[in-house]
Amino acid sequence: MTVNGSRVSVGGVVAAAGSGTRLGRGSKALVRLNGRTTLARAVQLFLGLDEVSRIVVVGPPSRLETAEQEVAALHPTKPVTVRAGGDSRQASVRAGIAALGDCDYVLVHDAARPLATPALVRRVLAAAMESGAAFPAITPRDAVKRVEGNRLIESLDRSRVVLAQTPQGFAYALLARAHREAADAGLVGDDDAQLVAATGHAVTVVEGEQANIKLTTPEDFGVVEALIKEQETHAL
Ligand code: CTP
Ligand code: MG
Repeated sequence: MTVNGSRVSVGGVVAAAGSGTRLGRGSKALVRLNGRTTLARAVQLFLGLDEVSRIVVVGPPSRLETAEQEVAALHPTKPVTVRAGGDSRQASVRAGIAALGDCDYVLVHDAARPLATPALVRRVLAAAMESGAAFPAITPRDAVKRVEGNRLIESLDRSRVVLAQTPQGFAYALLARAHREAADAGLVGDDDAQLVAATGHAVTVVEGEQANIKLTTPEDFGVVEALIKEQETHAL
């Protein structure tokens, strides 16, 4: 894409290497929702955005060929590379950004969130281009508590807490540095925003989407599939 007359390259990393233990249907990336895998949906999201020039999928090492077939079946119109992920999400993303190679910005998205919209990706990317680092989030609907075991320790101010989603967007060099520093320090984070924040760089929060649910447990399956069906019916 071109910004103020100069070319800006944006890469996409699809984190799809998890084992899907909680869902219990094998690799989540290869689970079909209304006929299409979460992996195909995530890659399609990036393929549909002109801003994204190339994509890396980090897939489950034991199902890499299947992941490659899924990608090939989309007849991608831009370069898509499939690589083996690591033992943790963090290791997988690190492998993904290494395989992506140098670009100006990188978007990292979980295949497990098949409902993210192009508008959300664009919102994240715009904020990442502005500040270097951005992630989408929603405010919790429920009261939020800190607990120890089954004991209430503290009732938190709900307006000061958010639930983080993906896609998350970063200046490529910043995210690469954040992963290097985290590995050196032995920091294992839940997401990339956490690793970038640990470098001391400010991270911007943008409005997430209520429907951008992460397919995690068996209970989620019906909800996520129903939302996808609704989206796809309206799109006709
Ligand atoms: N992920 C990854 N590599 C890993 C672990 C997770 O790329 N080693 C990805 C998953 O594929 C998923 C995202 O990170 O798209 C979020 O992880 P999560 O929802 O925890 O998925 P899983 O790790 O597959 O599920 P579980 O924790 O239930 O095993
Ligand atoms: Mg996991």
